[in-house]
Amino acid sequence: MNGERHTYVLELILALRRQGWLWTEEYIWHKKNCYPGKWPNRFRDAWECCLQFNKTKKFKMFQDAVRVPMGGWAETRLKSLGKNDVVRFDSRVGSGFGKNIANWLDRDLAYPTNVLHLATETGNKNHSASFPLALPAWFIKLFTEEGDWVLDPFVGSGTTCEAAQNLARNSVGIDIKQEYVDLARSRLSSVKLTLFEPGEQYVANNGKSARRLHRSKHS
Ligand SMILES: C[S@@+](CC[C@H](N)C(=O)[O-])C[C@H]1O[C@@H](n2cnc3c(N)ncnc32)[C@H](O)[C@@H]1O
Repeated sequence: MNGERHTYVLELILALRRQGWLWTEEYIWHKKNCYPGKWPNRFRDAWECCLQFNKTKKFKMFQDAVRVPMGGWAETRLKSLGKNDVVRFDSRVGSGFGKNIANWLDRDLAYPTNVLHLATETGNKNHSASFPLALPAWFIKLFTEEGDWVLDPFVGSGTTCEAAQNLARNSVGIDIKQEYVDLARSRLSSVKLTLFEPGEQYVANNGKSARRLHRSKHS
């Protein structure tokens, strides 16, 4: 914009921090299949940043839920461990998070980095800026448990809500445009919704709601 990059992301971070939010992490979504383009003064962006804010230092995080196969890295880097790799040491910034790469020698799964390599999805969802299902799915798995609530205040075509439902989370989507609310709703209508716990028996309660009768022995 006007010959330089926009600073709105930086300003957003500072504004939220002023409101008391902790800027906990920044993830990069690397768009693996980004198509080429040419601009006079820069190259095409092939990434977007995903900012994490929390209200408190302690928050739910299920790192095991997003572990990835060790892959070729285990075959190459781990087999030629250097002196620094086998000695635990604290990072230079004094974060207290030491590393001991040798600990990972016999493992099949590793924790991912904060760079997510995901292709954009080109399927027609009638929304120009929809993101791949795997993107919200990754964050939902990382930060929530089954039955938790997920809120997307910019729901667009409803990708976040679909990912949430696929993972047995509840979700709420909001959009300023009614057409996108309708689009998201229609996308979710094919998903099977379970109102009550399977295996339970219910009776009507004055026509208002249902009341659980008894717990099934088979549930
Ligand atoms: C980048 S799109 C989200 C796309 C979505 N992640 C998907 O996969 O389809 C952003 C959405 O935010 C909506 N939006 C923009 N400003 C808004 C506001 N002030 N309140 C609610 N929704 C807004 C836009 O209409 C648009 O659908």
